[in-house]
Amino acid sequence: ATESRYQGLRVLVSAGPTRERIDPVRYLTNDSTGTMGYAIARMAWRMGAEVTLVSGPTSLPEPLGVSVVHVATASEMERAMIDRANDADVVIMTAAVADYRPETVLEKKFKKTQDTLSLALVKNPDILSQLRDHMKPRATLVGFAAETHDHELYARKKLREKRLDFVVLNDVLEPGAGFGTGTNRVTVYAADGGVTPLAQADKLTVAGLLLQLIRTGREV
Ligand code: C5P
Repeated sequence: ATESRYQGLRVLVSAGPTRERIDPVRYLTNDSTGTMGYAIARMAWRMGAEVTLVSGPTSLPEPLGVSVVHVATASEMERAMIDRANDADVVIMTAAVADYRPETVLEKKFKKTQDTLSLALVKNPDILSQLRDHMKPRATLVGFAAETHDHELYARKKLREKRLDFVVLNDVLEPGAGFGTGTNRVTVYAADGGVTPLAQADKLTVAGLLLQLIRTGREV
C-alpha cells in the first residue's frame, strides 16, 4: 500500500546548500550536504511519485528515476522552484538557502592587497514563502526548520507566515540530527495543530516516515 500512496502524484523537492559567488574563484556557502532532500526524492520515487529535485551543489549521485535540476545560487533556486511549483502536488523545501549573498559579483579575481576587507551582503529572497502563491489550490507545502530553542513557537510561526501544511523541525543541538550526520530525528508540526515526533533513524527511513505522514496524517 505504501508503494502506491504517491502513484500519479508529482513531488517537487529542493536540497543542498546554495553557493553565492564573490568572484570567479570564491563563494559563500554552508554545511548542508543535501542528504535529507536526496533521501526524500529517492523515497518519493520508490513510493510511486514523479519526482523533480532542484539541487544546490552537492557531491551526491542523482537518485534513480528522479529528474534533477542543478542550480548554484539562491536566485537560481528561486526561479527553478517557482517555475515548477504549479505542476506539483507536494512541494518539500529542504534546501539550506543562504540568507545573504555578496552585493556585487566581481568579474575578476580580487587581489590580496588590503590588510582588512569587508564584504557587503544583501538579503536573498525567501523562496519558501513565495511558493504557496504559485501552487495548485489543494497541493501540500512542506518546509524545514533548524532551531536551537523555542522550537514549537518558531515552527508555528513558520507554518502561519509561510502558509505551510507541515514544518519539519531539526533540533540542531541534538546529536545524530541535522547537518552532516547519516541519521536524523525530527518533529513534524502540522497546520491542523498536530505534533508528531518521528523516531531517530537513517535519513532514508526518516524520509519514508515523513512522506507517509504527509499523505495520511499518520505514522505507520
Ligand atoms: O525561516 P527559515 O530560514 O528558518 O526557514 C527555513 C525554511 O525556509 C526551509 O524550508 C528553507 O528551505 C526555506 N528557505 C527558503 N528561502 C530562504 C531561506 C529559507 O526557501 N531564503
